[in-house]
Amino acid sequence: MTISIQDPIALIDGPSRLAEPSDAPGDTGHRIVTGDRPTGPLHLGHYLGTLANRVRLQETGCPVTVVIADYQVITDRDGTGPLRDRVRMLIAEYLAAGIDPDRSVIFAHSLVPALNQLMLPFLSLVSDAELNRNPTVKAEALASRRSMSALLLTYPVHQAADILGQHGTLVPVGKDQLPHVELTRLIARRFNDRYGTVFTEPEALLSATPAVQGIDGAKMSKTRGNTIPLGATDDETAAIIRSARSDGLRRITFDPVARPQVANLLTIVAALTGSDPRQVADRVGDGGSAALKTLATEVINESLRELRRRRTELLTDVGYLDEVLLDGSARATATAVSTLDQVRRAMGMDYFRG
Ligand code: TRP
Repeated sequence: MTISIQDPIALIDGPSRLAEPSDAPGDTGHRIVTGDRPTGPLHLGHYLGTLANRVRLQETGCPVTVVIADYQVITDRDGTGPLRDRVRMLIAEYLAAGIDPDRSVIFAHSLVPALNQLMLPFLSLVSDAELNRNPTVKAEALASRRSMSALLLTYPVHQAADILGQHGTLVPVGKDQLPHVELTRLIARRFNDRYGTVFTEPEALLSATPAVQGIDGAKMSKTRGNTIPLGATDDETAAIIRSARSDGLRRITFDPVARPQVANLLTIVAALTGSDPRQVADRVGDGGSAALKTLATEVINESLRELRRRRTELLTDVGYLDEVLLDGSARATATAVSTLDQVRRAMGMDYFRG
């Protein structure tokens, strides 16, 4: 079975439908750009939501660029936190999950200044009303319990610079990021209309797994403290799963509406084992929440064992992690500078052309 990655929809339908490396279409011309904020360790929601997908895309032969969005950390909080450690941990987690620094690029915003310059013409292409309508930004402003900073309002434009600066065409993200990809498309379109075609409109690529919930039933997120961190030990994982909400019914069924917490554990197990949540429910049968939790713990620990081993090993070699970041940022800078040249030329700012 060959699935062309040119058809992103085909990729949305689950791991079982993804192209195997063996029948990879090779260089499809797609360039993948995605990223994370370095605000804490990655968790299972990241892994199922985008991380596994990034590695699969890398295996199809597409160039993958991962942005460590350090300037996005201060969109909704007052300080940067222990950034150096968090950035290193993120890199270790990417590599442990299978991102290969020889084939893929990992860079940090703060190490690619050319990217910031792209933001200025991009800002001229959107209105404040459009920025104020962004539902993800509105939700973040609300959750931060602060007044909206100008950076929070405009970071989706900066994110457009992340993507378009690297000439990204496919953006694997969670659902909350769709408004930003939409805005990026709008910016690309308007730039091209105004100055001549420089950009391709990128497409979002949603992963197969519906948003994984945290153990309290809310969205799994660092700020809510309800996550299953990738770096948790087996015992920590067991304790987290044990404390997860569930219900007292003996018979386990997959019913996301009536039994969201049970459905969430079934979804996690199904996603990690490449099966269907209903099948998993049948397997647990009359075992109740206790059996489901035992199964979920086993599956999570087993699925993450190798990743965790690599992660621990990588974290002992910070020199190497720093080298990966420096090298990736140099490569991302080269691409961003060349994009900026194209932009300046299109805008008539290429004053010193021979
Ligand atoms: N905003 C994204 C998040 O919070 C992170 C991000 C930054 C990103 N730059 C990006 C994602 C470019 C995709 C493409 O998760």
